[in-house]
Amino acid sequence: MRELTSWLSGTSDPDRFPYAAVLERFHRVGKHFVEKDLLALLDETRARLTPTGADSTTGRGSGTRLLADFLDVTLDKWDGRYDYRTYLALRLLGLPDWPDDTPPGQDSRPPWEGETPGWTVDPAGARRGRDRLLVGLVADALAFELTASAHATDLLPEQRPAPELVLKRCRLGIRAVSPALARLGLTEPPADREPLAAAAALHARAAPVHGTAQELALRLSMLPVYVSHDEYLFIRVLQAYECLFAGLVDELRATIAALSAGHARAAADRLSYARDQLTTASPLFSLLATMQPESFRTFRQYTEGASAIQSRSYKLMESLCRSPEATRLDSAAYRSVPEVRDRVRAGRPSVDDAYRAAAREGRLDGPDRDLVQRRMREFAEAVLQWRRTHHRLATRMLGPRPGTGYTEGTPYLAATRSIPVFTAVPDGPRPSPTDPTGGSPE
Ligand code: HEM
Repeated sequence: MRELTSWLSGTSDPDRFPYAAVLERFHRVGKHFVEKDLLALLDETRARLTPTGADSTTGRGSGTRLLADFLDVTLDKWDGRYDYRTYLALRLLGLPDWPDDTPPGQDSRPPWEGETPGWTVDPAGARRGRDRLLVGLVADALAFELTASAHATDLLPEQRPAPELVLKRCRLGIRAVSPALARLGLTEPPADREPLAAAAALHARAAPVHGTAQELALRLSMLPVYVSHDEYLFIRVLQAYECLFAGLVDELRATIAALSAGHARAAADRLSYARDQLTTASPLFSLLATMQPESFRTFRQYTEGASAIQSRSYKLMESLCRSPEATRLDSAAYRSVPEVRDRVRAGRPSVDDAYRAAAREGRLDGPDRDLVQRRMREFAEAVLQWRRTHHRLATRMLGPRPGTGYTEGTPYLAATRSIPVFTAVPDGPRPSPTDPTGGSPE
């Protein structure tokens, strides 16, 4: 590959790395089928990366860091450590792929965020950053649909969707991001607008500006394993949900902090915001339900080993609500995220714990207690709804096949979908002690 060999034989300046040429080679065949000689050159590139031009915060210049992150996701199969996080290129998007949101030696501020999310700081900047990323991901997915339907790209050419499916995708994608658009102060495309025109307008308004760090991150984070058109949608929807889960983690941590400090209303507001996030994003599932099952079955042959069971943000979210039972902690659910399991074992506090402590110590009485309880129940219902919809979607796409995370597939999801989100609120159902997943069968 000429561009890469000449880069390697020159100054090897990370800021001049031939990203476009490398991406083009990956996209032509899919990550699973990239030629070994290209991967060997990328491996050589990685070996050459030195912390020159280091900045004081990270020990690495931003160009070097970006290149290191890109090599981390492009060489995952070559190294034999391909998984959900590298498949979705979470680190390139600034989404947490470390339990504390900050990979060792890295700046904790992703390119999308105005400020680092904290326990008690004003959440506006972090929320705006997540909204921008969510909108950017969906706008990009729809832009790909439009470009392909106009025959203006040969990217992922197999199993193109019919025009009516493209229309439906545009309608659902716009619905999924409308609340975030409104929060960002970007006017929503009028509801009566023709979906293709609305999707084009969304992209023009919300996509990151060409040449910016955000735009490059978005481009580099699309590394399908094969050349099926629908894998683009699959990746972007998963990334959008990861963005959402990361936001829920922030809200739950702040809820715990607020309850511990005796600020019941602040805790209730955080739970309420989290619930709205999860419920208003539900058209994302409808959007993914337009995926053609035969396309999914084609490309998933090459995603073996990458499963959302490895999502740290989802398990952090779950365990910040309450500590999972020992049976679930010892099951594939948490064995797939050992760092999160360690946190739970170390006794990290949960909303359940903070609620109980506040009630016990007299910091949560009367109307405040009712309000927090109500918000906990509403958030729990949103999570349970998410699990039920996920199970239905998985049943439709997967049928009786096993999962890529090495579970038996939908029976795992059926067994786990009714695990109580909280146990401290009075009417929360109790998990069955005999169920190996910690959940009660429906
Ligand atoms: C075609 C669509 C989908 C199918 C067929 C599917 C299938 C599955 C299966 C079979 C599992 C069990 C673990 C395994 O063996 O892989 C699983 C787990 C999971 N999936 Fe999905 N999934 C789909 C879409 C999504 C989406 C869009 C998300 C959003 C991020 C998601 C998030 C999760 C999470 C968080 C888990 C872990 C649940 C737990 O451990 O309790 N899935 N999925």
